[in-house]
Amino acid sequence: MSPIKNCILNKKTDNTPIWIMRQAGRYLPEFREIRKVNPDFIKLCLNENITPEITLQPLKRYELDAAIIFSDILMLPYGIGQKVEFQKGFGPILSDLNLDFINKTSEDIFTKKLDPIYKAIEIVSRDKIITNKDLICFVGAPWTLLVYMLNKQSPKKELNKKLLEDKVFIDELLLIIDKFLKIHIHNQIKSGATIIQIFDSWAGLVNKKDLEKFIYKPTISLIKFIKSLNTPVICFPRNVENYKEYVETVMPDAVNIDYNVDPQNILKNINIPVQGGLDPQILLTDKENLKKNALKYLEIFKDHPYIFNLGHGVLPTTDPNMMDYLVKLVKDF
Ligand code: CP3
Repeated sequence: MSPIKNCILNKKTDNTPIWIMRQAGRYLPEFREIRKVNPDFIKLCLNENITPEITLQPLKRYELDAAIIFSDILMLPYGIGQKVEFQKGFGPILSDLNLDFINKTSEDIFTKKLDPIYKAIEIVSRDKIITNKDLICFVGAPWTLLVYMLNKQSPKKELNKKLLEDKVFIDELLLIIDKFLKIHIHNQIKSGATIIQIFDSWAGLVNKKDLEKFIYKPTISLIKFIKSLNTPVICFPRNVENYKEYVETVMPDAVNIDYNVDPQNILKNINIPVQGGLDPQILLTDKENLKKNALKYLEIFKDHPYIFNLGHGVLPTTDPNMMDYLVKLVKDF
């Protein structure tokens, strides 16, 4: 069994597996080369002649235990008919939402639009380098997608409450998101995904009283679905106040922690496998400091099923040599 699945399913703690969020990305010169001649990010995500190569770039450099398919959580709104663009230095920009238009999107149209992603997953899963490793595929959590679809760009600190006022509209939108997320997840698993990660990057914006409606209920629906397909699911509810309550309520197979939580507290309160935690900024400092901070997580979780990762994606300004140092450090632990 692959090291990550062995950790998640058998709770094995002898060797700490490692993969890194955004491991395929701008900190790698070989990625920047490809990006230079592919200025349209959505088109790049839909080019199955290139995305398998990008997905495997970090595995050619480092001894990682998983590949994560090169795609984006915003391919879902794109697939159901909301326009998505990426502006350099700004991030994603989405067009106005038109439910009449979205309601005309059938499962078939959606799957055809995103077919290059599924083809890329098939290609990667057949690559020798993936032998005894995982191919992680992913989706945005319903709440985080709702945030992008309504706000039409990354929120700054909070979400304009007006966007959530029309309850009937929001409920309809949540149903649509749930439906297409399940189709997208199922397609990815059929194509070769061995683990699904759910990114809830904006979970921290939800008030306590709204957690049930926007986070717990919609996430439980997805997790039940993924479990019914016999595939492990890792959740990353970034910046939620209460990881213990989150884990006990939605019951994922593993949980990724962000860098703002105290890992000692997590160890005390959470009994499912844990992933991540290290602040990506630490990779911008020096090797000594990186070693000290990485060892902190490794020591704290040495008797707990733990997958090494960061508390958010690796930063574009990271030196690839620091990544090399980190992966070797974890492998030697
Ligand atoms: O290596 C991997 O982890 C796989 C690829 C991956 C991407 N996006 C590629 C990407 C994954 C897992 C994501 C998830 C994603 N996308 C999230 C959840 C994780 C998080 O960061 O909170 C979110 C919120 C998005 C939406 C998104 N995509 C934003 C806000 C941005 C702009 C900010 C940025 O980092 O540039 C993106 C662009 C994006 N997605 C890039 C990559 C490699 C950068 C595109 C470029 O090359 O310019």
